[in-house]
Amino acid sequence: MQITTSTLNSMARQGQKIVMLTCYDATFASVLDEAGVDVLLVGDSLGMVMQGHGSTLPVTLDDMVYHTRCVVSKASRSLVLTDLPFEAYLESPQQALASSVKLMSAGAHMVKLEGGHHMLETVRFLVERGIPVCGHIGLTPQAVNALGGYKVQGKTNEAAERLKAEALALESAGVSMIVLEALPAVLAAEITASLTTAATIGIGAGVNCHGQVLVLQDMLNIYPGKKARFVRNFMLNQTSIQAAVAAYVEAVRNGSFPAAEHTF
Ligand code: KIV
Repeated sequence: MQITTSTLNSMARQGQKIVMLTCYDATFASVLDEAGVDVLLVGDSLGMVMQGHGSTLPVTLDDMVYHTRCVVSKASRSLVLTDLPFEAYLESPQQALASSVKLMSAGAHMVKLEGGHHMLETVRFLVERGIPVCGHIGLTPQAVNALGGYKVQGKTNEAAERLKAEALALESAGVSMIVLEALPAVLAAEITASLTTAATIGIGAGVNCHGQVLVLQDMLNIYPGKKARFVRNFMLNQTSIQAAVAAYVEAVRNGSFPAAEHTF
């Protein structure tokens, strides 16, 4: 059965964990779909993972359209969520709409954008026009230059209060999901408990989110370089990629991932 935005909403309300992984191509889309991954995120992390850039900033809308088409071709059950890239939505709600139309026409079921209060008007504009939207707050990689690096967010009371308010405001504006990246687990749990319609998806935000996401090449331990604290190597003790993905699906569903050592 095809996963839809209402499936995700019901899963979150019923306490059934949502399993998400990044995916950029048809072969992995087929493996992940088969393994029961609920959401395939065509993340702009493809700028680093597929294109070898040092950040997500150089990724173009055409790149995202291309990779969305690749993933959609083999996603029969999973919902396909595509990132709006840095160049394609910050100018105005109209620019975000034109870019989202291209991504949805390529087959995406939902688009994701980064940012809190300053994105509310854009979220409303897209949702009113029938485009499901996922927010993304905390460590927002497109703002890496403003944040001064890839650092844990929400550590002061003031920052935590701002993030809580942003999550509620994004939900009121109509987002279906919110990615919470690199936040103290206690804060992510409070945000999750405060929401009534949107689902939270954590990455470095503790186990008490409605679901989890990782970059596929990180959890398969094939992306070079130092791993973030919140990544677990799911290839350990496995003999195939299929088995590693199945282990991730199971660990997210039964709440054994993320564990304390992956948490801030
Ligand atoms: O682009 C991406 O892969 C993401 C995840 C890190 C959530 O946005």
